[in-house]
Amino acid sequence: MKLIITRDYEEMSRRAADIVISHMVQKPDMVLGLATGSTPEGLYQKLIEAYRGGTIDFSNVRTFNLDEYYGIDEDNDQSYHYFMKEKLLDHVNIPMENTHILDGMAEDVHAECMDYERRIDEAGGIDLQILGIGKNGHIGFNEPGDVFIRRTHLVDLDQETIQANSRFFTCKEEVPTQALTMGIETIMKARKIILIASGEGKAEAIYRAVKCEIHPMVPASILHVHPDVTVIVDEEAASKL
Ligand code: F6R
Repeated sequence: MKLIITRDYEEMSRRAADIVISHMVQKPDMVLGLATGSTPEGLYQKLIEAYRGGTIDFSNVRTFNLDEYYGIDEDNDQSYHYFMKEKLLDHVNIPMENTHILDGMAEDVHAECMDYERRIDEAGGIDLQILGIGKNGHIGFNEPGDVFIRRTHLVDLDQETIQANSRFFTCKEEVPTQALTMGIETIMKARKIILIASGEGKAEAIYRAVKCEIHPMVPASILHVHPDVTVIVDEEAASKL
């Protein structure tokens, strides 16, 4: 696990963007794993700038998102479909058929999850996966638990996650309590992983992910056994290391 501590959010975003950009230049048809949430917004902005400046071209890139809320339509402005379009996909030249996000309205959830795994495999696997981290140590929406759940699945979100996500919703009742998420093995099969975190609120999660032993109660701790993980955190998120 390689650890990069940056001065602030801006530098964290730039360092992460530099890695994505260099991959995309080397492999223009790369398979990129995407995360949502506040943390990668700066990184996505930098990718948009690099695209506008002519450094990168998304026309052959394929993307797979980590997760989507369950029971939320993709046109809902709180869906991760909506987020990805707004923050990245609508601003670059990626063909929409190259973008993959789990269907939160799928009638047959099991079939949707299996199909997602199949689509990732058919694309040749994920070359580079971007991850954020929850305050409870989750990656994707793999919440702390007794076991690591391997494949893409439907998950009941933790109270802490529901609480954290509520900042985007107008009332508590609207906050989804379930999501579809890539599993731990799905994430671990990515050839390269970048985990980004910013702010004091993530310091404890980063400490537990980086310093503690591997345990499903700290889902991000599994990253220790991945051969190519870069953790990029600002000074505040690194403050307990
Ligand atoms: C989002 C995801 C989550 C977030 C995490 C941090 O697709 O998979 O694991 O990365 O909850 O969210 P933020 O960045 O909003 O603090």
